[in-house]
Amino acid sequence: MSVLLALALVAADPATSEPAAPPPESAAQEEPGAVDWAKEFGVAKKVPDPVTGELPVDPYTQAPANSGATPFAGARMAEAFGGQAGIRRIVGRFVDLNIADPRIADIFKNHDMIRLRRTLFEQFCYLLDAGCTYSGRDMKSSHKGLGVTRGNMNALVENLQRAMRESKVPFAAQNRLLAKLAPMDKDVVER
Ligand code: HEM
Repeated sequence: MSVLLALALVAADPATSEPAAPPPESAAQEEPGAVDWAKEFGVAKKVPDPVTGELPVDPYTQAPANSGATPFAGARMAEAFGGQAGIRRIVGRFVDLNIADPRIADIFKNHDMIRLRRTLFEQFCYLLDAGCTYSGRDMKSSHKGLGVTRGNMNALVENLQRAMRESKVPFAAQNRLLAKLAPMDKDVVER
């Protein structure tokens, strides 16, 4: 083989040729007219609050009426639920049961459970007249697009009954809270 031919073969061998250097990381951003897709589609990453860990939500008007019902009057219901400490324990257990329940767990995936625990506690505490106000969103907008069915709603009610039963809330008081929440199904159930 002539020296020239050998050289030409080496040059053509992809295994021995040097790979092209990758473009610098920032090249796409520097390119004039490059599109910021995250911004374009409004999917900019949400940053959790450094203190609470909650993710930001779109602005809304806060009002206790967003809780979806008027509170009980007097101390009896709050006492039946063990005051704020009891309500916090029941709501915590209720959320744990929901996110572990194969019938409805998927609906809660990718939602902010830190916020849900806080707002649900506030809602129950406010409605039971246990000394809180409700600062969350109304029931219609907070469940919009979740695709909740009547069956999902029934599963959630079962979990709430279980959480209340485990905390020894008297049966009559359990039913009074359920009766207060029941009409909210029109804003929660979508199909
Ligand atoms: C009467 C029944 C219900 C009540 C009282 C209730 C209450 C609430 C409250 C207070 C919030 C938080 C609102 C906020 O973030 O500002 C919320 C959010 C949520 N609820 Fe319900 N809920 C009910 C039924 C259901 C059902 C049946 C499901 C599904 C099985 C469900 C799934 C969710 C989810 C996934 C969120 C988070 C939404 C988000 O992150 O944007 N809820 N609910």
